[in-house]
Amino acid sequence: MKNYEIITVPHPALKQKAQDVQTVDDAIRAQMDGMLRAMYDAPGIGLAANQVNLLNRVLVMDLSKPDKGEEPNPICMANPQVIYESEDISVMEEGCLSIPQQYAEVERPAIVRVRYLDYHGKEAELEAEGLLSHCVQHEIDHLNGVLFIDYLSSLKRNMILKKVEKLKKHEAL
Ligand code: NI
Repeated sequence: MKNYEIITVPHPALKQKAQDVQTVDDAIRAQMDGMLRAMYDAPGIGLAANQVNLLNRVLVMDLSKPDKGEEPNPICMANPQVIYESEDISVMEEGCLSIPQQYAEVERPAIVRVRYLDYHGKEAELEAEGLLSHCVQHEIDHLNGVLFIDYLSSLKRNMILKKVEKLKKHEAL
């Protein structure tokens, strides 16, 4: 299995648009496995290819709660497409492994339906609400080079970027 390192802002790959995969083959499955490992290690609930410096449209998620005795429930997607979004809005606090230790409330469509290719390359659909809805929209945003801080005022965004810069300097010491 590949060992991926998660990149953080202001890495340029986080601002780039990822490209569709042709098919979900063994190489893509190995990427999905490696991304899940990196996500579980972090730990986080979602990870997009851009965050491991790959620019293909692959994302992984797992919202299960192992500390509450729940079994892992990995969801792997290639070429995800939002085919429905509700007019109802949901506001939730979001964070991001590429923007460590920073959180802010983000407004998104409350319910979305996503069409994608699964781990086996089969077309599948997911209807999501609540945390899963925020998570899948957040990860699809990554594939389009969009971060949750892009929804904030520039003042708030710059504050967060400065805090991460400080944090990284501190960790490097
Ligand atoms: Ni993120």
